[in-house]
Amino acid sequence: MAPYGARAREYKDGLIDLSVGTPVDPTPDFIQHALIESANSPGYPLTIGSPRLRQAMRDWAINIVGVTGDFDLLPSIGSKEVIANLPSQLEATRVLYPAIAYPTYLVGALLAKANAEAVDLDSTHWPVADFVWINSPSNPTGRISPRAELEKTIQYSRRTNAVIASDECYFNFPASSDGEQPVSILSVAAGDNKNILSIHSLSKRSNLAGYRGGLIIGDPLLIAKIREIRKHAGLLVPAPVQAAMTAALGDEVHVHEQALRYARRREVIRPALESMGFIVEHSEAGLYIWCTRGERDLDSVSALAEKGILVAPGGFYGVAGATHIRVALTATDAEISAAAARLLAK
Ligand SMILES: Cc1ncc(COP(=O)(O)O)c(C=O)c1O
Repeated sequence: MAPYGARAREYKDGLIDLSVGTPVDPTPDFIQHALIESANSPGYPLTIGSPRLRQAMRDWAINIVGVTGDFDLLPSIGSKEVIANLPSQLEATRVLYPAIAYPTYLVGALLAKANAEAVDLDSTHWPVADFVWINSPSNPTGRISPRAELEKTIQYSRRTNAVIASDECYFNFPASSDGEQPVSILSVAAGDNKNILSIHSLSKRSNLAGYRGGLIIGDPLLIAKIREIRKHAGLLVPAPVQAAMTAALGDEVHVHEQALRYARRREVIRPALESMGFIVEHSEAGLYIWCTRGERDLDSVSALAEKGILVAPGGFYGVAGATHIRVALTATDAEISAAAARLLAK
């Protein structure tokens, strides 16, 4: 990406970076205060989370994620470390992951020395495996897996005994409140959570990617195994971060406000991309616009770099994405408006 970044930086009004999905809006004050108030922290934190955090995670899992039946949960140091470590911790030997996907699914499979295979979305075509990643809403495509697809994925697990790890870290950000809404696999499992794990993150939900806070929810037997490994491996969420997570999980107002912010930015940048001939696909939720002009991804990246805008090439997420680009909405309102103006200028 370096040459495209260099070209974009030469633009007269400077670079607007829409290539990474890192939040830019402030961490809400009440979350910052919860962190600061727990700064005196001489003892080790609990791997399973403080009693207050456990209660907050449970309530959130039931009320927002929609889990029912027997389940357990654990806090994590953001969700990327979970994705990188889970196949090793569960001794996976064959890992399936989506053909267009966040690259860490492959990294985790390689760390586990498992066979890794990119698969399409239809689980009826999947080979037998012992571990499967799914991701809805998807990074990079913004696609929401429909309930029927999740039901089929659960049936695959029931047939093969595979663990289904569902990365739901963009769960909180539908593109609009009256459009398609993300569904957690745990709400589709209807109380039978065997072999199902749902991975969540507060990084984007609560604009605290710098704190590192996430959670794993699901099958109590799998969680028990993961818990023992995390305990002995020192994968502990710092106590001040646990306090911040407790506060964050108890509030949906700031999440709704952030969802509206991303929805507005999406509405500003989408028509500007379309004016340049890009066709937007999926992008039903999450932080990205996934689009194509039918040309090589780097040609699109290059065209936008000429306007001082840096975006991610779709090929970065798998060969199936090699004619697409991913445009992140994680820039300030002013930057998004300026980017749209540049795209619309002939
Ligand atoms: C699909 C997906 N999963 C997980 C993560 C990891 O996020 P975090 O470690 O901040 O929770 C990201 C980050 O961008 C992501 O895009």
